[in-house]
Amino acid sequence: MSEPETKGPRRGDVVLSARNIAKSYGNIHALKGVNFDIRYGQVTTLFGENGAGKSTLMKILSGVVQPTSGEIVLDGEGVNFTSSTEARDHGISIIHQELSLAPNLSVRDNVFMGREIQGATGVDFAEEERQVRLLLEELEEDIDPLTPVEDLRLGQQQIVEIARALSIDSRILIMDEPTSALSAAEVEVLFKVIRDLTAKGVSIVYISHHLEEALEITDHAVVLRDGTMTAYAPRAEIDLEWIVRNMVGEHHDLGSPPSGYDFGETALSVVDLTVADPNAGFNLVDRLSLDVKAGEIVCIYGLMGAGRTELLETLAGRLKPKSGSIFLEGEEISSLSIADRIACGLALVPEDRQRDGLVQTMSVGENMSLASIMNFTRGLFTSRRIEQSLIADTIRKVTVKTSGGGAPIGSLSGGNQQKVVIGKMLATDPTVLLLDEPSRGIDIGAKAEVFKLLAERARTGLAVVFSTSEVSECLSVAHRIIVMHKGRISAEFDSSVTKEKIMAASGESVAA
Ligand SMILES: Nc1ncnc2c1ncn2[C@@H]1O[C@H](COP(=O)(O)OP(=O)(O)OP(=O)(O)O)[C@@H](O)[C@H]1O
Ligand SMILES: [Mg+2]
Repeated sequence: MSEPETKGPRRGDVVLSARNIAKSYGNIHALKGVNFDIRYGQVTTLFGENGAGKSTLMKILSGVVQPTSGEIVLDGEGVNFTSSTEARDHGISIIHQELSLAPNLSVRDNVFMGREIQGATGVDFAEEERQVRLLLEELEEDIDPLTPVEDLRLGQQQIVEIARALSIDSRILIMDEPTSALSAAEVEVLFKVIRDLTAKGVSIVYISHHLEEALEITDHAVVLRDGTMTAYAPRAEIDLEWIVRNMVGEHHDLGSPPSGYDFGETALSVVDLTVADPNAGFNLVDRLSLDVKAGEIVCIYGLMGAGRTELLETLAGRLKPKSGSIFLEGEEISSLSIADRIACGLALVPEDRQRDGLVQTMSVGENMSLASIMNFTRGLFTSRRIEQSLIADTIRKVTVKTSGGGAPIGSLSGGNQQKVVIGKMLATDPTVLLLDEPSRGIDIGAKAEVFKLLAERARTGLAVVFSTSEVSECLSVAHRIIVMHKGRISAEFDSSVTKEKIMAASGESVAA
């Protein structure tokens, strides 16, 4: 890149300008004439509710999707991308919200998929590996380039996705929710990388539902609402309240844990549960014991790698423990299958909802009723009518934005797909509901709705255990906060605890 301040564009100059972009899918108008500018060497952040049109706009700018109408002007000239390769040739690349990695291929092969480095005698795997190593070093991630992607935790897969985009050396880099599965430390590293890139003159578009985090990196903020741009402002003129007001129109308070009722009997009991890491010599969950009562909401806080996901997945029957027992309403369920546990009343909303929670070839409605199919079965038949009304009810309750239960799941925005998984597990009418990072990827309004729904269900006896990386969620939603560290419970608090105490117990450094 040439020296920016003397020749060529100056910081803040518009390099790409989208003019009056509209996109319709049948009678769904995802974008209704949006103007959007990308500025040289700066970060433009795009805010908006689930389904507002953010990903659609970014897919258009990166050639993945073609607009119904409108114009893209790059360096003062009209361009028309018919494919992502074409956009890439113009220096535009994108980190997709939904991970697009091949699970069985190595990190190296994923990074260079379709863009292999050719040597004298075919693909130069050694050179590819060297470059991937450098990228991962820059991202401060200790991953072997030859590891199959499916062996990585979700956050690490997201890092690989980022590494692939960085390997392209673009002048415009679009990041659609790059941090949804990252730890606070990983986000800090990514922000450092973003600052280095902008200093070199790369222009960034950044999308996140983690509003505070996004504000930290923003130079310009744009708000989309229902396919229309509703607000624009440079960083100096905005704050969190401005974003929320323009995004959803009103302030959403997560409130406080539901009160005014007594908990029931112990619904879930975990005794001395130990889960071993198949590859390393240590335990992911280490002799952990926990009781949760009917009506109680328990939050599990911890850093990435603390063992939260492994604990929840073991409870749901997805992982096999090394030792220990699990009881549901006094009955031991340790040897039951996932489906039998659901039938008994134990349901999990998994961390990787894209991969584990949804069948991409099915409709919204089919996905929703999938887990609770036994509830509709009368003899050999499924009662269509009960099913239909339950689907409509669930769509409304978890505020899924869709044209109806018959819509293909892939036509929903990322956040709305996540809400379907939450709705699907709620529809199984569980006794104990486990949720792994339920608020990831969903907008601030939907988050409040989901937690309100959980609180309502808790009042009528549902036991809820959810994990989160956001301390504020623990404090305003849960009756009890459990902090996990290295597979064990390192502390337990009620909701009157301070943020600092929770973070300290997780091993996180607390800023003075
Ligand atoms: N292939 C498609 N077919 C039909 N409708 C679609 C398709 N892709 C997107 N939509 C619709 O367009 C609208 C905008 O979706 P988009 O994915 O851009 O939202 P988003 O702002 O990225 O939301 P999120 O925060 O949930 O990721 C939604 O109503 C969505 O259902
Ligand atoms: Mg999106």
